[in-house]
Amino acid sequence: GSERDRLMERISDLLRERDAVLVAHYYTDPDLQILADRTGGYVSDSLDMARFGAEHEASTLVVAGVRFMGETAKILTPEKRVLMPDLEATCSLDEGCPPDAFSAWCDRHPDRTVVVYANTSAAVKARADWVVTSSIALDIINHLKARGEKILWGPDKHLGDYLQRETGADMLLWDGSCIVHEEFKGLELEKLRGEHPEAKVLVHPESPRAVVEQADVVGSTSKLLEAVTTMDAREFIVATDAGIFHKMLESAPDKVLLKAPTAGRGATCSSCAHCPWMALNGLHSLLRVLERGDNEIQVDEAVAEKARVSLGRMMDFAR
Ligand code: 13P
Ligand code: SF4
Repeated sequence: GSERDRLMERISDLLRERDAVLVAHYYTDPDLQILADRTGGYVSDSLDMARFGAEHEASTLVVAGVRFMGETAKILTPEKRVLMPDLEATCSLDEGCPPDAFSAWCDRHPDRTVVVYANTSAAVKARADWVVTSSIALDIINHLKARGEKILWGPDKHLGDYLQRETGADMLLWDGSCIVHEEFKGLELEKLRGEHPEAKVLVHPESPRAVVEQADVVGSTSKLLEAVTTMDAREFIVATDAGIFHKMLESAPDKVLLKAPTAGRGATCSSCAHCPWMALNGLHSLLRVLERGDNEIQVDEAVAEKARVSLGRMMDFAR
């Protein structure tokens, strides 16, 4: 067999030997998604990755994604060993929200409920009252608004803007963004829609307002995937990381998927709209971590204890 087949076989063996299960995000290399599916692991959005990891009986979780996903798994199940193919896999939202500065901002607004996106460090989650992912953000903000709470939101300003417009909640927004979704362009999208008038537009809410406003469906990666499989349309324009095309084409092979245009590069670029940190997860880095057992996620227990409260609220709400 090929080098790829050999790597995949070796990794499958090691997962079994190490009592480990592979949990991968939709944006990771298709080979990792295939492996997760074949070995009894799971491929999903960030909320369902957390759920699956917390409920699975394996003593080791191998999280293929970015760091906050590994940290979330560790916080929810501290007794498990959580490994990641590459510990450098960060996220621009996490990087743009340093815990000290964020905490000082919270101190200046003691009358507000602090709600943070899951794409943050454990320390930022520890400072928050609630954590949300994109798949449950609208429901939680609506719930808090109904209770009359005013909200301090961080770090994604585009998702915050979307939530505020949808719910009418009183929200102050931190100034953070995702470097991948920020690249989607409203004017170029309008042009592409003109060329494909039948196409449905699917947008992840980390995208700028000019893009979100043109969407037929706005939602988490799993919601966008579901739209491709269930909507009565043949063509889709997709404004999220290109990693998700693997699952979209697997579950709806007869549909036509177009990449939403990104800054100055047009709709045909094959390497745009792909998260550089998600891309650190590959067969080689996965094999290495299973062989060596290094790259273990550690979260300070005092921080984890607090983060478990805000994360736990989300997990309970999601039940
Ligand atoms: P989802 O929760 O929708 O999977 O999003 C995570 C993410 O990082 C999107 O860029
Ligand atoms: Fe973070 Fe954006 Fe990468 Fe998602 S795609 S992990 S939000 S940088």
